[in-house]
Amino acid sequence: MSLAEEFQGVRVRAPGKINVFLAVGALQSDGYHELATTFQAVSLFEDVVATLSDDFTISVTGSVDVSGVPADETNLALQAAQLLATETGYEGGVHLDIRKEVPVAGGMGGGSADAAAALVACDALWGTDLSSQELHRLAAQLGADVPFALKGGTAVGTRRGDELSAALAHGRFEWVIVPNPVGLSTPAVYREVDRHRGEHQEALGEVSATPSVDAGVLQALRAGDARLLADVIRNDLQAATLRLRPDLADVLEFGETSGALAGLVSGSGPTVAFLVEDTTKADELRRVLMSAGHEAIHVYGPVHGARIV
Ligand code: C5P
Repeated sequence: MSLAEEFQGVRVRAPGKINVFLAVGALQSDGYHELATTFQAVSLFEDVVATLSDDFTISVTGSVDVSGVPADETNLALQAAQLLATETGYEGGVHLDIRKEVPVAGGMGGGSADAAAALVACDALWGTDLSSQELHRLAAQLGADVPFALKGGTAVGTRRGDELSAALAHGRFEWVIVPNPVGLSTPAVYREVDRHRGEHQEALGEVSATPSVDAGVLQALRAGDARLLADVIRNDLQAATLRLRPDLADVLEFGETSGALAGLVSGSGPTVAFLVEDTTKADELRRVLMSAGHEAIHVYGPVHGARIV
């Protein structure tokens, strides 16, 4: 029997993301903030291979530092598998083998991509055959960014960021990302937003209960125009991230004065993403950043969501 014939598993690939726009509204009673965001899935991928097992187990490897990733039931991908089993009444288990390419705790949704990939992989492996709406519902229970990792492409997210509508995007946008060796906790960044808002309530005024994505962002994406997009990218978490990690301001400034059209912190950070004009500029910026001692990776978006490969 050939190796291919022996392989009894399902392999699913899911992308990391950049929030090209992220407006943070008021804190809700459930501890989440009302968001208006535009996600773009980019070409850094997580691969999850699911194989049949009596138990629920996981192993994690990758091209990035995976030492901070739990290899037990606290891992969101294993929780995704368990949630699917509970919801469908499936009585067996699974072994998940995760291969990571998205920086860990970097603000690019790597853990969410693992959970989305695990849902799709287990659904196929176990033959539970849920509809995409049912998978979306389970994804939203696991985390605010998990539905987008299922869907991919370019999309607007409202409510917690989990209520998605597709955004038309033409062409391909080129990015250079700068991962950071020290991760950041997303809840800590949101707490810093609230602390700062509380302290400067008078100056900042009322926080919108229902933020919305700027029309200019959607226009720039529709036009496939990186220069237009560079003028309107925005991340309301960025100021809080920079207060927690002042070192990132230098990275942003360095990239922006070395050929990027614009830069922003990706999600809650600490990864910084630079939008560039084309692949040549991407390569140039990547080299300049690397010669200054930064890790720098050229990625593009949009790319597909979680799917079997
Ligand atoms: O849903 P997820 O587990 O990815 O969210 C991580 C944390 O980020 C939440 O516990 C919350 O502190 C914060 N968050 C938020 N508002 C959102 C999304 C996330 O406050 N819309």
